[in-house]
Order: sequence, then C-alpha cells, then structure tokens
Amino acid sequence: MSDRLRPLISARRIRKRVAELAGEIAADHDGAPLTLVVVLKGATIFAADLMRQIATPFVIDFVRASSYGRATTSSGEVALGDETRLDIAGHRVIVVEDIVDTGLTVTALIAALNKLGPKSLDVCALLHKHVAGAKEVAIRYKGFDIPDAFVVGYGMDYAERYRNLPGVYRLTLARPQGG
Ligand code: IMP
Ligand code: MG
Repeated sequence: MSDRLRPLISARRIRKRVAELAGEIAADHDGAPLTLVVVLKGATIFAADLMRQIATPFVIDFVRASSYGRATTSSGEVALGDETRLDIAGHRVIVVEDIVDTGLTVTALIAALNKLGPKSLDVCALLHKHVAGAKEVAIRYKGFDIPDAFVVGYGMDYAERYRNLPGVYRLTLARPQGG
C-alpha cells in the first residue's frame, strides 16, 4: 500500500494568494530596512515565490527550526539554529514560515529574535492549522487556514518527501507510525 495524497490547495490558488501577501508586505513598507527571516527547510519554496513578488527592497536570511523529525505530530520541543548571528537590530523583520501548527516554533523564534532588537517583528505563514490547545499566534500575513490534518507539498515534507509537489496535499500514511 502507498501513502494517500488528497489535494487541499491548488498551485493556482497558492500563486494568487502569494501575490496578494507580497502586495500587503510591500504596502506596509515604512522606510525601515526590511529583513525576511525564512525558516528552513519547509518555507523555502513559499519564500522563493513570495520574494519574487515583493516590489520594495529587502534582505533575506535563514534560520533553522525543527520540531517534527520523523513523525506527523509535533514533538513539542523546538530546536533553533544559530539565530543570534542575524543582523536585524532596528529592522522590520518578517518571519516566513510554511505552516503554524501548535505555534511552538514561531513562538520560540519570536522570543529569540526579539532579543536582537528589531524595530518590529511579524509572522508571514502560508498555512495556519487549527489544532485544539494550540498557542495563540498573531499571523499578520496569512495564506490559508486549514483543518487539523497533516499536509505536504509546496516545500512541506513528510520525512523529507513530497516537498516538490506544486500544491498542498493532505497525507494519509499507508501504515501508521509504529504499525
Ligand atoms: P508548530 O511548532 O507545531 O507550530 O509546527 C510548525 C512546524 O512544524 C512547521 O514549521 C513545519 O515545519 C512543521 N509542520 C507542522 N505541521 C505540518 C504538516 O502538516 N506538514 C508538514 N510539516 C508540518
Ligand atoms: Mg518548519
């Protein structure tokens, strides 16, 4: 048996929404230097499309954050990379994420980045998954709300697979973990 993929958001809908988000980000430009902090690895494809639609100047940087490993539910612990090397004091900072699920990852990142003295700090996430008991996270630039399902595609993976799918799909595993 193979894993089951069911389409959730088409590449065409993503393209349209990404252009709208880029427009909002450019419209909010206030003269302060803008830095996009892209969360590796899942947000890279989203960020690549988003960046090419933002008409105002900005710089990009990357941080590592992982909470999943080889599972479809969050481990509850967030490991961050070396974010202290980012030069964002006085910058408008936008954290670019693929998906906010329990909210642990962005919450940990925001706390860490805030210590570096940005002028402002906002979140741009392609997807917001609605899970019971999740942390309240303010997502200023949000692509889509989705139900509590495990999704892959458009940069998002299951055990490093499926990142190359052009749209977002719900994944049902053929053999559940441990089964
Ligand atoms: P959180 O800390 O629970 O909000 O999880 C956010 C991180 O977990 C995201 O940056 C993703 O990398 C990953 N993640 C959460 N849900 C999914 C999913 O449905 N598919 C793939 N990755 C996910
Ligand atoms: Mg991630």
